[in-house]
Formats: sequence, C-alpha cells, structure tokens
Amino acid sequence: MIKPDGVQRNLVGEIIRRFESKGYTLVGLKMMSVSRELAEKHYDVHKERPFFGGLVEFIISAPVVAMVWEGEGVVSTARKIIGATNPINAELGTIRGDYGISIGRNLIHGSDAIETAQREISLWFSEEELIAWEPTLKPWLEE
Ligand code: RTP
Ligand code: MG
Repeated sequence: MIKPDGVQRNLVGEIIRRFESKGYTLVGLKMMSVSRELAEKHYDVHKERPFFGGLVEFIISAPVVAMVWEGEGVVSTARKIIGATNPINAELGTIRGDYGISIGRNLIHGSDAIETAQREISLWFSEEELIAWEPTLKPWLEE
C-alpha cells in the first residue's frame, strides 16, 4: 500500500515501476480513502504501541494506493525492494532508502509474511477486484 506521503509526493508511478521492472505481476490496484475502521484493522497488530494512534490518523489523512503483486518470492522480495522500516537505516536503492528520511513518513507498507498478505488482501480487496491473468512474459521470468 502506497501510503499518503507516497501519493502526495508523486511517487505512485515510480513505486509501481520498481515492482513491475523486477518482474512481479500486478493483480489488484486501486486508489482509495481509507476508513478509520480499515486502518485500525490493518494495523491491529500494533494497537498497543505508542505510535498506533498517530499511524492510523496518518493513513486516513489522505488517499492511498492499494496493490496486490504476484510472483515467485514476492512477499520477502517486496520487503527488500521497500527497505528497512526506518528510512535512516534503509539501504540506498530501496524505496525507503531512496525517498524517505523519517519513520513516520516511510512511503509504503508491505505485508511481512504470506499469512499477513492473505489477511491484508482480504481486508483491502473484494474477490472481483483481483484479476487472474497470465502475463505472456511469464516463461521469461520464472522457470
Ligand atoms: P509497514 O507495516 O508499514 O510495512 O512497515 P514495517 O512492517 O516495516 O514496520 P512495522 O513495525 O510494521 O510498523 C508499521 C508502521 O508504523 C510506523 N512506525 N512508527 N514512530 C515509531 O517508532 C514507529 N514505528 C513504526 C511506520 O510507519 C511503520 O511503517
Ligand atoms: Mg509491518
């Protein structure tokens, strides 16, 4: 999910490009204003943390872009493409390393495990919004 700062900073195209160029397949995409209920459910795991309230306020403060990407190793590789949570520790070449300077403005959320991804996909997308398609490039991307 491209967070409100990523959208406001005109980085939607650049962020999508990084996943596309890597070889992943886009199967869901939408811009949306996030309800407080969805933001709280999404970050449920952090509800006891001191930053929870501010994080939820931030996510609902302006539109986000939700995406689902498919392909070999996508969950763990996406975390690498995204970079460390705090942009100060994120390597250059990652999204957060190249474009962020502050943990509360780290541009993008990525699911941290397959089970989390499954939970988050069902939270953010209906079944009709997910498009199963076979890219003609696939044999050139995966053995
Ligand atoms: P995300 O869930 O957004 O993909 O980020 P992450 O896995 O790398 O980091 P996580 O530990 O899940 O934290 C979720 C988001 O909360 C904000 N945060 N703020 N002020 C703080 O100390 C603090 N710690 C975390 C960040 O925006 C982080 O992405
Ligand atoms: Mg997380």
